Amino acid sequence: MMNSLWYENARLPRFPTFRTDSRTDVLIIGGGITGILTAYFLHMKGIPYILVEKGRVCGITTGNTTAKITFQHGLIYDKILRSRGTEMAQMYLKSNKEALKKFTELSRSIDCDFEIKDNFVYSLSDRRKLEDEMKALTKIGYAALFCENIPLPIKSVGAVCFPEQAQFHPLKFLSEISKGLNIYENTFVREMKGTTALTDMGRIKAKKVIVATHFPFINKHGSYFLKLYQHRSYVIALENGKLPDGMYVDENDKGMSFRNHGDLLLLGGGDHRTGKEGGNWAEIRQFAALHYPEAKEKYYWAAQDCMSLDEIPYIGQYSKNTPDLYVATGFNKWGMTGAMVSAMLLSDLVAEVPNDYAELYSPSRSILKPKLFLNCVESAANLFTLSKKRCPHMGCALRWNSAEHSWDCPCHGSRFTEKGTVIENPANGNMKYK
Ligand code: FES
Repeated sequence: MMNSLWYENARLPRFPTFRTDSRTDVLIIGGGITGILTAYFLHMKGIPYILVEKGRVCGITTGNTTAKITFQHGLIYDKILRSRGTEMAQMYLKSNKEALKKFTELSRSIDCDFEIKDNFVYSLSDRRKLEDEMKALTKIGYAALFCENIPLPIKSVGAVCFPEQAQFHPLKFLSEISKGLNIYENTFVREMKGTTALTDMGRIKAKKVIVATHFPFINKHGSYFLKLYQHRSYVIALENGKLPDGMYVDENDKGMSFRNHGDLLLLGGGDHRTGKEGGNWAEIRQFAALHYPEAKEKYYWAAQDCMSLDEIPYIGQYSKNTPDLYVATGFNKWGMTGAMVSAMLLSDLVAEVPNDYAELYSPSRSILKPKLFLNCVESAANLFTLSKKRCPHMGCALRWNSAEHSWDCPCHGSRFTEKGTVIENPANGNMKYK
């Protein structure tokens, strides 16, 4: 079944459509996990807010996650230590640790299949990278474990283990968290005029606005079309696929990931930049046939992730010139903790409460020029590619995705059905023909 298993056994509450002009302190645009958690925090702080979602809540990215809650994001700590120094690497660790702690606390009273699991990042060929990560972790004061062998049916050169991380059922969790929040579904923001949102049924005048739309949809500030790109990754869920305790992921972006959910084994992989060729489900199925020949596929689905250029999310003021506009994006496939960090940080910033993590995640930080250049080259190449089918976001040529039967944009990752209806943003309209 091409639907994530999360949709099969959770019932999300329904919310009304926005119908009349309104005022509020904080408008949140986007009803995925980031928007909902931010609304929850504002609710708890007693700050008036409205959350609007153009479709149903958790309808796209959040419903297709693998829902691992960990502060081990690949081999990130060595990278941050080198690019931003010890203090920022410690901040990254501390903020994501807090996110895990908050999920643990909230999940205590919610039936959401929350389980504590050790997390492992393994490498198939580069032991040196794992050793560098261990050194970086020691330097910032975290005692990770090094494992010579991992109990997976592949040969690795070792793994870095963070004990006592977690996994859960994201939609069971969010269906409880979102109850009673001031949310409007099927409410599309057509245009922003400062901090006023124009919807089909009326205006929402806000003092501050948080853009939590996966890919930020306002182009005239922040240059997110230069500093983000999108990745697709693929998951299958297998019956009879035995997994030793734990969650596992390859340090290599194109490698495999593993977790269980009850008796199901969730295998992830086949990644590629949206609009490019990649292994998709075929690669994972080949792996499953080889290593789990007894297993039977029960679900398959795909996820889309926003990738930042320095592997740290962009959370904070949308741009230097927009003091009342905020954003959360670029979680680099670690959307559970990314969403929680965003909710904690943004609910402080809109209340003008200082937050220690603001500098680390500031979207206006300087980005390494070579990465920026490469991302621009990729977009420019697709802008000048000849093709009748164009993306309404900024005009790039669309590419056919034969695995998913969709038209995908290699520039920033918008996607369209075979007939041209928009599926994923930043495009906010249907495919165009030249
Ligand atoms: Fe930006 Fe297509 S997503 S041009």
